[in-house]
Order: sequence, then C-alpha cells, then structure tokens
Amino acid sequence: MVLEKQITSKQAIDLENKYGAHNYHPLPVVLNKGKGVFVWDLEGNKYYDFLSAYSAVNQGHCHPKIINALKEQADTLTLTSRAFYNDKLGQYEKYVTDYFGFEKVLPMNTGAEAVETAIKIARKWGYEKKGIPSNKAKIIVCENNFHGRTVTIISASNDPVATENFGPFTPGIVSIKYNNLDALKEALKDENVAAFLVEPIQGEAGVFVPDEDYIKNAYAICKEKNVLFIADEVQTGVARTGRLLASCGNCSCKDKNCSSTPDVKPDILILGKAISGGVFPVSAVLADNHIMEVIQPGNHGSTFGGNPLACVVAMAALDVVKEENLAENAFKLGVQFRKGMQDLINKSDLVKLVRGKGLLNAIVINDSEDSSTAWNICVALKEKGLLAKPTHGNIIRFAPPLVMTEVQLEDCISIISETIINFKK
Ligand SMILES: Cc1ncc(COP(=O)(O)O)c(C=O)c1O
Repeated sequence: MVLEKQITSKQAIDLENKYGAHNYHPLPVVLNKGKGVFVWDLEGNKYYDFLSAYSAVNQGHCHPKIINALKEQADTLTLTSRAFYNDKLGQYEKYVTDYFGFEKVLPMNTGAEAVETAIKIARKWGYEKKGIPSNKAKIIVCENNFHGRTVTIISASNDPVATENFGPFTPGIVSIKYNNLDALKEALKDENVAAFLVEPIQGEAGVFVPDEDYIKNAYAICKEKNVLFIADEVQTGVARTGRLLASCGNCSCKDKNCSSTPDVKPDILILGKAISGGVFPVSAVLADNHIMEVIQPGNHGSTFGGNPLACVVAMAALDVVKEENLAENAFKLGVQFRKGMQDLINKSDLVKLVRGKGLLNAIVINDSEDSSTAWNICVALKEKGLLAKPTHGNIIRFAPPLVMTEVQLEDCISIISETIINFKK
C-alpha cells in the first residue's frame, strides 16, 4: 500500500465521501496531529479539542506514558486470543478490579460490546440466580438512552434515526422515563426484571443530568426488588464528570462539594472509551463474583478482548488519571466552565442554559430543535480554533480533555463567548 504523503483536506474529505459508508456527519476539518488538548488540521491550523473523541481522550492526545506503553508492547506481543494465557491479562485484571473496587472483570473492546456483555450477564443471572422463567427476562432502560449501535442495543433506543428500518428488534427490553423513580418502581413490579441499565448522566441525549438523588434512589429500588443495577459509564466514567465514576462511591475526588453526588456501587459497571485514553479500543464489564460466576467457558468472548496491547494501554491510561489528578481537575474546571457559560447566557439570547458535571457539559441553543443554528455555531467555533459538535437538536456538547489548564479553559470560554455573541443566524 502506498500512502500519499501530501494530501489536502478536500482530497481527504472527497475520499471518505466516495469510499466510506456515510454513517457519520463530520464537521469539515481534517485532523492529522494531536497533542494534549490540541489537534491540528492538514493545513497546520491548531484547535482546542472540545469533544475528546466523545470523551475517550480524557488523558489528552498522544499522552507519552500511554503511547510508550503501546509502543513497547507492540514490539513484544500484540495478540494471543484467549485460547492461550498471556502474561499481561491477569495483571491487568488485578489492576482494574482493584482500581474500581470489583472482584471480576470481563474484557471487551468497544462500548457497545461491553453493553451487550452486561445485558447477557444480567439475563443469565436472572435465570440462574433470580429464578426468572426461561426466556422471560426483562431489562429496563431509559428513554433517550444511548448505549451503542448493535441490534440489541438499538432495541432499547427510541431514536428513529437509530432504529428505522433496522427491525426486528430484540425482545425483553422495556423503556421508562429517565430521572423518574415512580416509573422505575412501576416497572420493577414485574418479577421478571433482571436489570436496570442506566447512564448516570445521559451524554449523547444532550448531557441530561438527573436529580441529585436519582441514581442513589434508583439503586435502592433495584436492591429492594433483587434487580441488578447496571451503570453504563462508557461516557461518564474515568474522571470525566469530576469524579472517577459518575455513579460510584469509589471516588478519588477530594473536593467537599463533590460528596453531594450520590454514592452507589453498581452491580455491573460498564466502561469503555477513556479506559484506554483514546489510544486503542478497550472496554470492560466489572462485577463481583456472585454475578460474574454465571459466565462459563464458551458463554461469551472476543478474539481481541483482553489482548496484551489493550491491557498495558489501559493500565497506563488509568495510572495517568490518578497521577495527574484528572478527576479533581475536571471537577474544578467544570465549575469554571459553567460559570463562564452562565456569564455568556446573561449577555446573549442565543444560549438558553448550560448543564453538566465536571468537564461533561452542554449548552442549549435558543432555536427550534430542527434548525441548523447549533451546527453553524460549531462551524464558526472551528474558524476560531475550537472543535465541538452538536449532540441532539440544538444542543452543543463541550467535553475537552481533562488535562486542560485553567488558563487554557479561560481562553476557550473567551472563544466560545465571542463566537456566540458575534454569531449571525
Ligand atoms: C453511554 C454510552 N454507552 C455506550 C456507547 C457505545 O460505545 P462505542 O461507540 O465504543 O461502541 C457510548 C458511545 O458514545 C456511550 O456514550
């Protein structure tokens, strides 16, 4: 294969349009370099990355510690499959279970695979431990969720773009309103419910933060009914929201304000994205023995899951989170960011509100849901050197790498504020 050394942004976009499936709608910028909180395009323009690959690059682009771990392992051994043991997997399993406070991990690659895995574990637990009659197990999910794009997972979605013409769907999934404990109580009256699958903050839906005690109370309701509480922290996990996990009590954050966040230990914890610092696809499903023991040889697997490259990358990425106090930094910078956006809201009618936790935030644009205002603002932000993307409708998510400094964030707040104040529809 001969790779063109010099390619223009137009050529790169044309190639993707011609040869790639059109399953994304990217902002028109072609990136070829990243370092820390910055990315560069082919023309050498420098941008603040305010998406972090959908919260996968929490540790910043090309973090030297993670990249060195990758390089060293890549020269030694990359893949054995699980047909044989490798010398890194057991060490990683001990590391990651200690880190998050669980007894067992099941390693996978992508977020969607990990969600699928959690659903399978919960169903099997439902039949073998809870005594649900064969093929009757139900999983409760929330409206406007985003758990990935496989057929079973979109069976849990109410987004027509994700579901239309992809049926028939997987049965046994019941959707209830998010942030509504009465709806959960009602749904759990059904004794065939095996699990409640929930995002502690709905990221893709537009960074919807539930009431302060929602997660804690939802967990308590699940415990009362012998239903597994599954936290999908693929996007919120690994320090993004100002604590190690958005749902969990095992928090490294020392800030006293942070303790107001409800503390629960999910029965099943799903992680992806930033567990590898955005370097390599790594995901994980964590649970204690009494749940994970339902999985036996042959029940589940993945050729790449638990490969030695993934193991060393994930350990380095999780080391960085602690060594560089990323949860604390995200917490502190989140307060600064939302204050900056609130000041903007006081000056501009174009932004209705800001919401979020840590460095997972969104602003809601004051225009109809189907207008292109949020998209056009993102294009204008790109021209000013900051990359962000609308989520749903007129909501713009802001999720920079967690290694950002206060000075850099102040610069970004100025870019966003000036762009929006000068924006003409
Ligand atoms: C909460 C949540 N779960 C699952 C996924 C799916 O992850 P992946 O894209 O790696 O399959 C995402 C992706 O955005 C997510 O935000």
